[in-house]
Amino acid sequence: MIGLSAECQPSSVSAARRLLAEVSRVVVLTGAGVSEESGVPTFRGPGGLWRQFRPEDLATPEAFGRDPRLVWEWYNWRREKIAAVEPNPAHRALAELEARLKAGATAPVRPLTLVTQNVDDLHERAGSRSVLHLHGEIWRLRCTGCGREDYDRRVPLDPLPPVCACGSLLRPAVVWFGEALAPDTWDAAVGAAQACELVLVVGTSALVYPAASLPAIALQAGARLIEVNRDPTPLTPRADVSLQGKAGDLLPQLL
Ligand code: OAD
Repeated sequence: MIGLSAECQPSSVSAARRLLAEVSRVVVLTGAGVSEESGVPTFRGPGGLWRQFRPEDLATPEAFGRDPRLVWEWYNWRREKIAAVEPNPAHRALAELEARLKAGATAPVRPLTLVTQNVDDLHERAGSRSVLHLHGEIWRLRCTGCGREDYDRRVPLDPLPPVCACGSLLRPAVVWFGEALAPDTWDAAVGAAQACELVLVVGTSALVYPAASLPAIALQAGARLIEVNRDPTPLTPRADVSLQGKAGDLLPQLL
Protein backbone atom coordinates (compact mmCIF):
# COMPACT_ATOMS: atom_id res chain seq x y z
CA MET A 1 0.00 0.00 0.00
CA ILE A 2 1.15 3.52 -0.69
CA GLY A 3 1.42 5.78 2.38
CA LEU A 4 -1.40 7.56 4.11
CA SER A 5 0.24 10.54 5.74
CA ALA A 6 -0.45 14.07 4.52
CA GLU A 7 3.05 14.51 3.07
CA CYS A 8 2.63 11.33 0.99
CA GLN A 9 -0.55 12.55 -0.66
CA PRO A 10 0.95 14.10 -3.82
CA SER A 11 2.81 10.89 -4.67
CA SER A 12 -0.26 8.84 -3.77
CA VAL A 13 -2.36 10.95 -6.11
CA SER A 14 0.18 10.37 -8.91
CA ALA A 15 0.23 6.65 -8.13
CA ALA A 16 -3.57 6.53 -8.32
CA ARG A 17 -3.52 8.47 -11.58
CA ARG A 18 -1.01 5.99 -13.02
CA LEU A 19 -3.15 3.03 -11.97
CA LEU A 20 -6.26 4.60 -13.49
CA ALA A 21 -4.43 5.34 -16.74
CA GLU A 22 -3.47 1.65 -17.09
CA VAL A 23 -6.98 0.17 -16.91
CA SER A 24 -10.05 0.05 -19.12
CA ARG A 25 -12.59 -1.67 -16.83
CA VAL A 26 -13.40 0.03 -13.54
CA VAL A 27 -15.91 -0.49 -10.75
CA VAL A 28 -16.58 2.46 -8.46
CA LEU A 29 -18.20 1.79 -5.09
CA THR A 30 -19.54 4.89 -3.37
CA GLY A 31 -21.10 5.58 0.01
CA ALA A 32 -22.57 8.49 1.92
CA GLY A 33 -19.19 10.29 2.09
CA VAL A 34 -19.41 11.13 -1.62
CA SER A 35 -22.59 13.17 -1.04
CA GLU A 36 -21.43 14.72 2.26
CA GLU A 37 -19.93 17.78 0.57
CA SER A 38 -23.28 18.38 -1.17
CA GLY A 39 -24.90 18.63 2.27
CA VAL A 40 -26.42 15.13 2.56
CA PRO A 41 -25.70 13.73 6.05
CA THR A 42 -23.67 10.52 6.34
CA PHE A 43 -24.81 7.67 8.63
CA ARG A 44 -21.85 7.11 10.94
CA GLY A 45 -19.33 9.47 12.47
CA PRO A 46 -19.87 13.04 13.72
CA GLY A 47 -23.19 14.47 12.49
CA GLY A 48 -24.18 11.04 11.13
CA LEU A 49 -27.87 10.10 10.92
CA TRP A 50 -27.37 7.04 13.15
CA ARG A 51 -26.05 9.37 15.88
CA GLN A 52 -29.40 11.21 15.98
CA PHE A 53 -31.82 8.41 15.10
CA ARG A 54 -32.13 4.70 15.87
CA PRO A 55 -32.17 2.66 12.64
CA GLU A 56 -34.57 0.16 14.24
CA ASP A 57 -37.15 3.00 14.63
CA LEU A 58 -36.91 4.21 11.02
CA ALA A 59 -35.21 1.80 8.64
CA THR A 60 -36.67 -1.67 9.21
CA PRO A 61 -39.82 -3.39 7.92
CA GLU A 62 -40.92 -3.75 11.58
CA ALA A 63 -40.65 0.03 12.13
CA PHE A 64 -42.78 0.63 9.03
CA GLY A 65 -45.33 -1.93 10.22
CA ARG A 66 -45.54 -0.22 13.64
CA ASP A 67 -45.65 3.41 12.51
CA PRO A 68 -45.65 4.05 8.75
CA ARG A 69 -46.36 7.75 9.26
CA LEU A 70 -43.23 8.23 11.40
CA VAL A 71 -41.06 6.38 8.88
CA TRP A 72 -42.52 8.45 6.04
CA GLU A 73 -41.93 11.69 7.95
CA TRP A 74 -38.25 10.78 8.14
CA TYR A 75 -38.08 9.87 4.44
CA ASN A 76 -39.99 13.06 3.54
CA TRP A 77 -37.38 15.06 5.48
CA ARG A 78 -34.56 13.26 3.65
CA ARG A 79 -36.29 13.75 0.27
CA GLU A 80 -36.54 17.48 1.01
CA LYS A 81 -32.83 17.63 1.86
CA ILE A 82 -31.78 15.71 -1.28
CA ALA A 83 -34.06 17.79 -3.54
CA ALA A 84 -32.40 20.96 -2.23
CA VAL A 85 -28.76 19.99 -2.90
CA GLU A 86 -26.56 19.72 -5.98
CA PRO A 87 -23.89 17.23 -7.10
CA ASN A 88 -20.38 18.18 -5.93
CA PRO A 89 -16.98 17.90 -7.68
CA ALA A 90 -16.65 14.25 -6.56
CA HIS A 91 -19.87 13.25 -8.37
CA ARG A 92 -18.79 15.24 -11.42
CA ALA A 93 -15.31 13.68 -11.49
CA LEU A 94 -16.82 10.17 -11.45
CA ALA A 95 -19.16 11.09 -14.33
CA GLU A 96 -16.17 12.45 -16.25
CA LEU A 97 -14.20 9.26 -15.59
CA GLU A 98 -17.05 7.20 -17.05
CA ALA A 99 -17.25 9.46 -20.13
CA ARG A 100 -13.47 9.25 -20.63
CA LEU A 101 -13.34 5.47 -20.33
CA LYS A 102 -16.29 5.16 -22.72
CA ALA A 103 -14.58 7.44 -25.24
CA GLY A 104 -11.42 5.31 -25.08
CA ALA A 105 -13.20 1.92 -25.09
CA THR A 106 -12.11 -0.50 -27.78
CA ALA A 107 -14.13 -3.55 -26.67
CA PRO A 108 -17.94 -3.76 -26.48
CA VAL A 109 -17.91 -4.05 -22.67
CA ARG A 110 -19.13 -1.49 -20.14
CA PRO A 111 -15.91 0.28 -19.09
CA LEU A 112 -17.24 1.66 -15.79
CA THR A 113 -19.94 0.49 -13.42
CA LEU A 114 -20.76 2.83 -10.58
CA VAL A 115 -22.18 0.88 -7.66
CA THR A 116 -23.60 3.15 -5.00
CA GLN A 117 -25.04 2.54 -1.57
CA ASN A 118 -26.61 5.99 -1.72
CA VAL A 119 -30.34 6.39 -2.26
CA ASP A 120 -29.94 9.94 -3.63
CA ASP A 121 -29.71 10.68 -7.36
CA LEU A 122 -26.65 12.94 -7.28
CA HIS A 123 -24.53 10.60 -9.43
CA GLU A 124 -27.16 10.63 -12.17
CA ARG A 125 -27.59 14.40 -11.88
CA ALA A 126 -23.81 14.78 -12.33
CA GLY A 127 -23.98 12.76 -15.56
CA SER A 128 -23.12 9.18 -14.50
CA ARG A 129 -25.03 6.66 -16.60
CA SER A 130 -24.06 3.15 -15.49
CA VAL A 131 -25.32 3.42 -11.91
CA LEU A 132 -26.45 0.49 -9.73
CA HIS A 133 -28.28 1.53 -6.55
CA LEU A 134 -27.58 -1.35 -4.16
CA HIS A 135 -29.76 0.12 -1.40
CA GLY A 136 -32.55 1.40 -3.64
CA GLU A 137 -33.60 4.92 -4.57
CA ILE A 138 -35.36 7.49 -2.42
CA TRP A 139 -37.39 8.83 -5.37
CA ARG A 140 -39.01 5.45 -6.04
CA LEU A 141 -42.12 4.31 -4.17
CA ARG A 142 -43.25 0.68 -4.00
CA CYS A 143 -46.71 -0.57 -3.15
CA THR A 144 -46.78 -2.96 -0.20
CA GLY A 145 -49.88 -4.62 -1.73
CA CYS A 146 -49.63 -4.91 -5.52
CA GLY A 147 -45.84 -4.37 -5.73
CA ARG A 148 -46.14 -1.60 -8.33
CA GLU A 149 -43.13 0.72 -8.32
CA ASP A 150 -43.21 4.35 -9.45
CA TYR A 151 -40.81 7.25 -9.66
CA ASP A 152 -42.20 10.19 -7.65
CA ARG A 153 -40.19 13.36 -7.03
CA ARG A 154 -42.92 15.31 -5.24
CA VAL A 155 -41.57 17.17 -2.20
CA PRO A 156 -43.16 17.04 0.27
CA LEU A 157 -45.33 13.98 -0.26
CA ASP A 158 -48.76 14.70 1.11
CA PRO A 159 -50.70 13.09 2.76
CA LEU A 160 -48.48 10.78 4.79
CA PRO A 161 -48.32 7.85 4.58
CA PRO A 162 -49.01 7.80 0.82
CA VAL A 163 -51.42 5.17 -0.54
CA CYS A 164 -51.42 3.29 -3.88
CA ALA A 165 -54.39 3.33 -6.27
CA CYS A 166 -55.01 -0.28 -5.12
CA GLY A 167 -55.59 0.99 -1.56
CA SER A 168 -52.41 -0.42 0.05
CA LEU A 169 -49.66 1.63 1.67
CA LEU A 170 -46.75 2.82 -0.42
CA ARG A 171 -43.23 2.51 1.01
CA PRO A 172 -39.90 3.98 -0.08
CA ALA A 173 -38.24 1.58 -2.56
CA VAL A 174 -35.10 1.39 -0.45
CA VAL A 175 -33.43 -1.52 1.31
CA TRP A 176 -34.05 -1.58 5.04
CA PHE A 177 -32.06 -3.44 7.70
CA GLY A 178 -32.99 -7.11 7.59
CA GLU A 179 -34.03 -6.98 3.91
CA ALA A 180 -32.26 -8.55 0.95
CA LEU A 181 -30.80 -6.47 -1.87
CA ALA A 182 -32.56 -6.68 -5.26
CA PRO A 183 -31.03 -9.85 -6.76
CA ASP A 184 -30.60 -8.43 -10.29
CA THR A 185 -28.79 -5.35 -8.98
CA TRP A 186 -26.54 -7.39 -6.70
CA ASP A 187 -25.73 -9.92 -9.45
CA ALA A 188 -24.83 -7.10 -11.84
CA ALA A 189 -22.56 -5.52 -9.19
CA VAL A 190 -20.80 -8.84 -8.48
CA GLY A 191 -20.37 -9.52 -12.22
CA ALA A 192 -18.81 -6.09 -12.72
CA ALA A 193 -16.53 -6.55 -9.67
CA GLN A 194 -15.33 -9.93 -10.97
CA ALA A 195 -14.59 -8.51 -14.42
CA CYS A 196 -12.94 -5.21 -13.50
CA GLU A 197 -9.24 -4.36 -13.42
CA LEU A 198 -9.57 -1.67 -10.79
CA VAL A 199 -12.01 -0.89 -8.00
CA LEU A 200 -12.25 2.69 -6.74
CA VAL A 201 -13.94 2.88 -3.33
CA VAL A 202 -15.09 6.35 -2.28
CA GLY A 203 -16.66 7.66 0.93
CA THR A 204 -17.91 4.46 2.50
CA SER A 205 -17.15 3.14 5.97
CA ALA A 206 -17.11 -0.34 4.35
CA LEU A 207 -19.01 -1.75 7.31
CA VAL A 208 -22.35 -2.70 5.77
CA TYR A 209 -22.59 -6.07 4.02
CA PRO A 210 -22.99 -7.34 1.39
CA ALA A 211 -21.99 -4.02 -0.24
CA ALA A 212 -18.68 -4.02 1.65
CA SER A 213 -17.75 -7.40 0.15
CA LEU A 214 -17.57 -6.04 -3.43
CA PRO A 215 -13.99 -4.72 -3.14
CA ALA A 216 -12.86 -8.11 -1.78
CA ILE A 217 -14.60 -9.85 -4.70
CA ALA A 218 -12.75 -7.58 -7.14
CA LEU A 219 -9.41 -8.10 -5.35
CA GLN A 220 -9.93 -11.86 -5.38
CA ALA A 221 -10.39 -11.67 -9.15
CA GLY A 222 -7.10 -9.78 -9.51
CA ALA A 223 -8.21 -6.13 -9.52
CA ARG A 224 -6.27 -3.24 -7.97
CA LEU A 225 -7.87 -1.12 -5.26
CA ILE A 226 -7.84 2.66 -4.78
CA GLU A 227 -9.60 4.03 -1.72
CA VAL A 228 -10.61 7.67 -1.20
CA ASN A 229 -11.94 8.44 2.26
CA ARG A 230 -11.71 11.14 4.90
CA ASP A 231 -10.85 8.43 7.48
CA PRO A 232 -9.21 4.99 7.48
CA THR A 233 -11.60 2.03 7.04
CA PRO A 234 -11.28 -1.76 7.31
CA LEU A 235 -10.39 -1.72 3.58
CA THR A 236 -7.47 0.69 3.94
CA PRO A 237 -4.80 -1.97 4.60
CA ARG A 238 -5.86 -3.81 1.40
CA ALA A 239 -5.68 -0.76 -0.86
CA ASP A 240 -2.93 -0.38 -3.48
CA VAL A 241 -3.35 3.36 -3.02
CA SER A 242 -5.24 4.97 -0.17
CA LEU A 243 -5.99 8.70 -0.39
CA GLN A 244 -7.11 10.28 2.83
CA GLY A 245 -9.16 13.46 2.48
CA LYS A 246 -12.30 14.86 0.98
CA ALA A 247 -13.63 13.14 -2.11
CA GLY A 248 -14.50 16.51 -3.66
CA ASP A 249 -10.84 17.58 -3.41
CA LEU A 250 -9.18 14.29 -4.31
CA LEU A 251 -11.29 12.81 -7.13
CA PRO A 252 -10.86 15.78 -9.51
CA GLN A 253 -7.07 15.42 -8.98
CA LEU A 254 -7.23 11.80 -10.17
CA LEU A 255 -8.39 12.84 -13.61
P1 OAD B 1 -21.19 5.85 6.48
O1 OAD B 1 -21.83 7.03 7.11
O2 OAD B 1 -21.14 4.58 7.24
O3 OAD B 1 -19.70 6.19 6.06
C1 OAD B 1 -19.37 7.35 5.37
C2 OAD B 1 -17.87 7.31 5.11
O4 OAD B 1 -17.54 8.43 4.33
C3 OAD B 1 -17.01 7.34 6.35
O5 OAD B 1 -15.95 6.40 6.21
C4 OAD B 1 -16.46 8.78 6.38
O6 OAD B 1 -15.16 8.84 6.94
C5 OAD B 1 -16.41 9.08 4.90
N1 OAD B 1 -16.55 10.50 4.54
C6 OAD B 1 -17.34 11.44 5.09
N2 OAD B 1 -17.26 12.60 4.44
C7 OAD B 1 -16.38 12.40 3.42
C8 OAD B 1 -15.88 13.22 2.35
N3 OAD B 1 -16.28 14.49 2.20
N4 OAD B 1 -15.00 12.67 1.48
C9 OAD B 1 -14.59 11.38 1.62
N5 OAD B 1 -15.03 10.57 2.60
C10 OAD B 1 -15.93 11.06 3.48
O7 OAD B 1 -21.93 5.66 5.08
P2 OAD B 1 -21.96 4.36 4.14
O8 OAD B 1 -20.66 3.66 4.14
O9 OAD B 1 -22.51 4.81 2.84
O10 OAD B 1 -27.63 1.59 4.46
O11 OAD B 1 -23.04 3.48 4.88
C11 OAD B 1 -23.42 2.27 4.30
C12 OAD B 1 -24.88 2.01 4.56
O12 OAD B 1 -25.14 2.11 5.96
C13 OAD B 1 -25.83 3.04 3.96
O13 OAD B 1 -26.13 2.80 2.62
C14 OAD B 1 -27.06 2.86 4.80
C15 OAD B 1 -26.39 2.84 6.15
O14 OAD B 1 -27.08 2.24 7.18
C16 OAD B 1 -28.95 1.37 4.57
O15 OAD B 1 -29.71 2.24 4.97
C17 OAD B 1 -29.36 0.00 4.18
